[in-house]
Amino acid sequence: MSTKNAKAILERMGAGSGRGGTGEALESVNPATGAAQGRIRAATRAEYDERVESGLRRFEEWRMRPAPRRGEVVRGLGELLRQHKEPLGELVSLETGKIRAEGLGEVQEMIDICEFAVGLSRQLHGLTIASERPCHRLMEQWHPLGPVGIVTAFNFPVAVWSWNAALAAVCGDVCLWKPSPLTPLCSVAVQALCDRVAAEHDAAGVFSLVPGGAEAGGWMCDDPRLPLVSFTGSIAVGRQVASRVASRLGRSLLELGGNNGVIVLEGADLELAVRAITFGAVGTAGQRCTSTRRLFVQRGIARPLLDRLVAAYRTVKIGDPLDEGVLMGPLVTRAAVERFAAAVAAARAQGGEVRFGGRVLDRSGNFVEPTLIVAPRHDAFPIAWEETFAPILYVFEVTDLDEALLANNAVPQGLSSALFTDSLRAAERFLSASGSDCGIANVNAGTSGAEIGGAFGGEKDTGGGRESGSDAWKAYMRRQTSAVNWGRDLPLAQGIQFG
Ligand code: UN1
Repeated sequence: MSTKNAKAILERMGAGSGRGGTGEALESVNPATGAAQGRIRAATRAEYDERVESGLRRFEEWRMRPAPRRGEVVRGLGELLRQHKEPLGELVSLETGKIRAEGLGEVQEMIDICEFAVGLSRQLHGLTIASERPCHRLMEQWHPLGPVGIVTAFNFPVAVWSWNAALAAVCGDVCLWKPSPLTPLCSVAVQALCDRVAAEHDAAGVFSLVPGGAEAGGWMCDDPRLPLVSFTGSIAVGRQVASRVASRLGRSLLELGGNNGVIVLEGADLELAVRAITFGAVGTAGQRCTSTRRLFVQRGIARPLLDRLVAAYRTVKIGDPLDEGVLMGPLVTRAAVERFAAAVAAARAQGGEVRFGGRVLDRSGNFVEPTLIVAPRHDAFPIAWEETFAPILYVFEVTDLDEALLANNAVPQGLSSALFTDSLRAAERFLSASGSDCGIANVNAGTSGAEIGGAFGGEKDTGGGRESGSDAWKAYMRRQTSAVNWGRDLPLAQGIQFG
């Protein structure tokens, strides 16, 4: 049963008090009602330093704990998440406004990455390479890095932390987490689970929370004790993170904005396309970095596809995200509503025609309508080149796949993309080196809702980072190349004779 009460959920999860700092208050506001629903305090600079120091102390031991033993801690965390999937999922809904199924899905994503990381804890592997020198073994191995700063965004307030933290922990790193100030309660709820699992496994300091705003993020960027800062958020802030971390020659892992396109060609399964586009554009009220924002439709099917989309949009029930049957909740803040309205106005001014929605709802909470805008030529429609974190889909008619690909790839962002077609030739072209330039390219599946097994991230202004599955773990480790001479001579590489 849904409690719809953040305080009750926190108590149920053992996160009743503390766990923040003693700095400024970070207020949690329910975006569906505008009501305050709890608060924590930010960490002060002194508290931040303490947490980094205790992380560093733990790191001395943690890096030498065998990786499969580290995996046990992550397995414990995964089990706790499984037990608390429902309350944590609801808390995600209460703070972000995403619907219940998506809140639960986000926690499922955490459980999945924990499982992935436990398996990975027995598979962290390097290479042995043929050496040019006799009686030499040439190899590379991967070692823990140190304390990792993890800065996450409001829209996936817990899953994105887990993609980073579960991997970093089995890799032997310790994690400092600065959550979005818009979702403080989600972060303390997760930290409460971390504290429990750490107490059971003598692992205090592996996972710590540093609540705060931009200032705390800045401490991480400038802190040479953190070899890696993983940042998820806007392109503008990502640029600052990248240059600040680079100026101390640290590493950053960036997961920034997307501007994701779907291409639908004549002959495609329109039913499938409509479902995927609706989920991609309307799901999470368009507040995923993978949300579908641009649709390129081949001319011959533009009319029927648009008609079907309008029909699908009509059935989208808007309302309290925890209510049964609701498919779209509110935007996260009033400011987000204003950005929605400004984008719709800009689209109109640039020649776009609102075919569905376009309005801010006159009720409490940050509700807007899912919006379909038929746009003129892509290169004459600058608003579509920006990422507006709202449920607005711009629709372009195109002549063929070439024109669609050109437009798809023209924007600065490069996260996700999708093609709907039954043509093998078109599908392979889309996936080829001259096809989509995005980090994610799907065929007959939408732009959002990636599973954790693949590497997640994108190119160009999306930042180039990869998180989650595949070999993304390598970002959390340092590579060491070693040559071992087991002979009695000292042959030099490149055949050099010295003396
Ligand atoms: C994000 O919006 O930052 O692929 C992450 C998806 C989700 C993650 C989105 N698994 O849509």
